[in-house]
Amino acid sequence: MRAMVRTAVFPVAGRGTRFLPATKASPKEMLPIVDKPLIQYAVEEALDAGVTKLVFVTGSSKRAIEDHFDTDSELENALSAAGKTELLDSIKGIVPPGVTCIYIRQGEPLGLGHAVLCARPAVGNEPFYVHLADDLIAGEPPCLTQMAVEYEKRGGSVIAVEEVPEQDTSSYGIVAVDQSDNNRIRQIVEKPAPAEAPSRLAVVGRYLLAPEIFDKLVTTGRGAGGEIQLTDAIADLLTASPVYAYSFSGERYDCGSKLGYLKATVAYGLGHAETGDEFLAYLHELID
Ligand code: G1P
Repeated sequence: MRAMVRTAVFPVAGRGTRFLPATKASPKEMLPIVDKPLIQYAVEEALDAGVTKLVFVTGSSKRAIEDHFDTDSELENALSAAGKTELLDSIKGIVPPGVTCIYIRQGEPLGLGHAVLCARPAVGNEPFYVHLADDLIAGEPPCLTQMAVEYEKRGGSVIAVEEVPEQDTSSYGIVAVDQSDNNRIRQIVEKPAPAEAPSRLAVVGRYLLAPEIFDKLVTTGRGAGGEIQLTDAIADLLTASPVYAYSFSGERYDCGSKLGYLKATVAYGLGHAETGDEFLAYLHELID
């Protein structure tokens, strides 16, 4: 049996310019979908996959994330005194006992690859997940758990992918795979124009990476957009260690875009026990 993946890295230093002014003073990862911030969905997915170490790579104006995962005794006491047990449970159980949160600052905005490299001291020499909270995935089981099952079969690294329309290749890392070898990735390119894209299979924000990626990141120069790209380090890893593309089952919402965020809000609002029925009735009313 392979070693359990115990660590998840959440790169959360990005400024979220696509959501300004909402993200001027608060992190984009704290934007709520119904009643939970995006970063909490991310953490819950990692916990479901058996993670016990949560590593947040943060930046300026991101302190609300630390506060969210910390204990708030004053609020807990107030809710308890008011007998609001359901609400109390909803804030108490966010990080279960035995799970550690580690916060590392990414001093400079040098890109996703740089953010992952910043997490190295907290990850150590073990496989780990990278989870991008912008990509909200409704899946059963959750996407990281699906990837853990894949990893159990073959080891190496596993990257979640999804087919995207041709005109969208320039927004993603795009892979070419060998279908006769369990979708082993042969090529990966960051944000190619449609004419240069090796396929329409796009990397979404879920990675299970072998620790060898860190040595590759050290030597990865600046790539697309002048940033140190995780995609380029993965390209360097391909020949040294197998990296598999995994087509997850579930629905992905790109919550880094306004439209994707609205779609997620509607989907989760409809699925929510408290709001679902009335919200559906309201949507019918709007359409009629
Ligand atoms: C990042 C990665 C890209 C990946 C995408 C998934 O890009 O660099 O390879 O496809 O996440 O969401 P970003 O969306 O941060 O520009």
